[in-house]
Amino acid sequence: MSENLADFAVEQNWAGYSEEEHAIWRFLFERQQRLLVGRACREYLDGLAALGVAAHGIPDFERLSDILDRATGWRIVPVPGLIPDAVFFGYLAQRRFPATCFIRARDQLDYLQEPDIFHDITGHVPLLVNPVFADYMQAYGEGGLKARRLGHLENLARLYWYTVEFGLIDTPDGLRIYGSGILSSAGESVYCLDDPRPQRLRFDLRRVMRTRYHIDRYQQTYFVIDDFQQLFDATRPDFTPIYHELEELSDFAPDSRVPGDVTVAIGQKKGPRLHAARV
Ligand code: PHE
Ligand code: FE
Repeated sequence: MSENLADFAVEQNWAGYSEEEHAIWRFLFERQQRLLVGRACREYLDGLAALGVAAHGIPDFERLSDILDRATGWRIVPVPGLIPDAVFFGYLAQRRFPATCFIRARDQLDYLQEPDIFHDITGHVPLLVNPVFADYMQAYGEGGLKARRLGHLENLARLYWYTVEFGLIDTPDGLRIYGSGILSSAGESVYCLDDPRPQRLRFDLRRVMRTRYHIDRYQQTYFVIDDFQQLFDATRPDFTPIYHELEELSDFAPDSRVPGDVTVAIGQKKGPRLHAARV
């Protein structure tokens, strides 16, 4: 890799945040806390609780990193904003999560197209406390470097989009959110579970890698995993032959419905699993 990772790291300068910036954080944090009860997956809520310092205002990355490091060996690296793909993947492959330092302004509370500190920290970091998800993110970083060499970044970016950013997970209590793009959005955290319009389909690796996505509106399709182990296992094989297979196949529109799709009903309960989980 030609880029030097250290060239993209900055100082967080935690002492430099204003009271107004901390107040924006608290507003967003408290709003999501209320919305995410019964909507976010357990692994996320557990991770958030483990990172308790995040509740009081914009957290100091060093303090968060120390907690995260003890749990799964990940650390947070402050970056100025969007960074080159190779740098991003290089960090993930080393169990380093690049996070932006700035927070959105008052007039952007509901929607922001680029990641800010609230999205990066409350959306992504709590799941890095989970050992299986932590390993998935590292494998994704390694896979990103490879996809780049092979010219298939677009396919891999869709996997990231439909899992890490906008993934849903099926649980004995019904569908839950694990995608960070949803977890940090007040509107979409309700829409993705409650609105009849988007389709919710069972996760299928090739289907996901063929599906384009919108970056500027709520998703039209969400893919649902059973658990993080399923996601990790499905993405473990070498993607090289899969990328070659995909070269022969067309892409799907974000709202397409294709043979083989399996719809997951909202609030679907799994009797046997529910029972097993209670005994
Ligand atoms: N197994 C993938 C590959 O060979 C790497 C990967 C793992 C990609 C997990 C994404 C997520 O490219
Ligand atoms: Fe993100």
